[in-house]
Amino acid sequence: MKKINPTQTKAWKALQAHFEKVKDLQMKNLFADAGRAEAFTLKWDDFLVDYSKNRMTAETKSLLLDLAEEMNLEEARAAYFGGAEINETEGRAVMHTALRQPKDAHVSIDGEDVIPEVNDVKEKIKGFCDTVISGSHKGYTGKAITDVVNIGIGGSDLGPVMVAEALAYYHNHLNVHFISNVDGDHVHESLKSLNPETTLFVIVSKTFTTQETLSNANTARKWFLDKVAGAASEGEAVAKHFVAVSTNEEAVKDFGIDPNNVFTMWDWVGGRFSLWSSVGLSIALAVGYSNFESMLAGAHKADGHFKNANLGENIPVMMALTTVWYNNFFGAESEAIIPYTQYLHRFPAYLQQAIMESNGKSVDRNGKHVDYQTGQIVWGEPGTNSQHAFFQLIHQGTKIIPTHFIGYKHSLHGDTDHHNKLMANFFAQTEALMNGKTEAEAREELQSSGMDSDAIEKLVPFKVFDGNKPTTTLLIDKLTPESLGALIALYEHKIFTEGILWNIYSYDQWGVELGKQLAKNVLNDLNSDQVAAHDASTTQLIKAFKS
Ligand code: F6P
Repeated sequence: MKKINPTQTKAWKALQAHFEKVKDLQMKNLFADAGRAEAFTLKWDDFLVDYSKNRMTAETKSLLLDLAEEMNLEEARAAYFGGAEINETEGRAVMHTALRQPKDAHVSIDGEDVIPEVNDVKEKIKGFCDTVISGSHKGYTGKAITDVVNIGIGGSDLGPVMVAEALAYYHNHLNVHFISNVDGDHVHESLKSLNPETTLFVIVSKTFTTQETLSNANTARKWFLDKVAGAASEGEAVAKHFVAVSTNEEAVKDFGIDPNNVFTMWDWVGGRFSLWSSVGLSIALAVGYSNFESMLAGAHKADGHFKNANLGENIPVMMALTTVWYNNFFGAESEAIIPYTQYLHRFPAYLQQAIMESNGKSVDRNGKHVDYQTGQIVWGEPGTNSQHAFFQLIHQGTKIIPTHFIGYKHSLHGDTDHHNKLMANFFAQTEALMNGKTEAEAREELQSSGMDSDAIEKLVPFKVFDGNKPTTTLLIDKLTPESLGALIALYEHKIFTEGILWNIYSYDQWGVELGKQLAKNVLNDLNSDQVAAHDASTTQLIKAFKS
């Protein structure tokens, strides 16, 4: 991968000069060009991505593509799919894409074809899911499993819970629960309603060293064994009710989980990109293995699109370039993701980890501090709820917040009345954000309401919408396991592309370590009579807590 400062490229300098010329352009005027909507729309599979309501011209697009070329995006993309060690700081390849390859594919990492091993694990997941779903896997009192509890955090929670919620329509009879926070109230509240005889715990931790997950797993095991007491042998009961997903088989064994109940994964799968691996076990349990596999197939299709489509017709590439345009030239700090389906209510939270843990970096690939902005802040909630919450700020606030609208042509329950209302809002919001409302329009509206002119003049300034707020619309046919897999994969590749453009390493996460280390020291303080040396504020807070 090229390790150059993007701001030193010819394209960046050209973009800077171009920005000065176009920064005040009104998007709505750009639509005088009758071909604009089509020219700034990408159609692929069941996806239509309309990025025409962005503050960019054909020249902007062409200069952004020049930047991609100068940053050697195509070469980097080949290295990514080819199993090169692009996660250099951890000495690993980044190959979650291998998990969604067809059975007969060949993907080599360190000279070894990993697909046979991936297939074996998938077979194991399939076999296990079939026995649990069919009820032939029995608990310690001979009853079938009714509830599955995923215990994990970060990538071992956010992906599975997001997908489990997104595919709720496809769920079978199993109830799936997710425990992540080390907050004891989370685990105890969740256990409260569960029956140990019919509950399966899936402990998910790539490293099996994560404090939150191990604490919750220990608490769950203790709760379980208290209930089992005397009714069965502890070992046999645990074997029926506890399985683990991890790369660390030794630690899993030490925890007391039968090695046969371990679903392995690999260090070339990053935590936040791991829902395609056995980390997705609770997804496969909830929706059945064939739906899980359809999700993988959808992601694989999207991999093909990203890998093969020309950069200018490539959804992840154009989404990433649009992000760079706003982040680095307009100074936009954040990006909102608004899915117009309640099923995707955890998608923004999932993307927060995927995007911000990946691209929240301030050191470039040469180990030097960057002198430009990198990872954008990502946030969001489903529409239309978000319209009644924070859309005020997007419409009339002082910040520029490029917003992604994600919506579906068809609803799952087929209620056209509701769906048309939902989608009317979806389309109207992007229209309103772009067009705004002029002073003259606001005045006319108030006049026609019969208001007297003094009152109108007082109110008019507050009724004006500047408009020119950028949006990108993803219109997808239907929320299916396949289209969900594709949607997630498209965003994954957007993350990769941004990392290449910003010359940073997207696949490590050293920034989460310091807090973990210090928490260990503080925990010693909380569990003893001493308070070690901290800054005065921290010492004061710890003492107040203990008092
Ligand atoms: O918070 C850092 C992190 O390492 C994430 O990257 C990861 O997804 C999460 O912790 C959980 O890690 P593990 O699966 O090893 O428990």
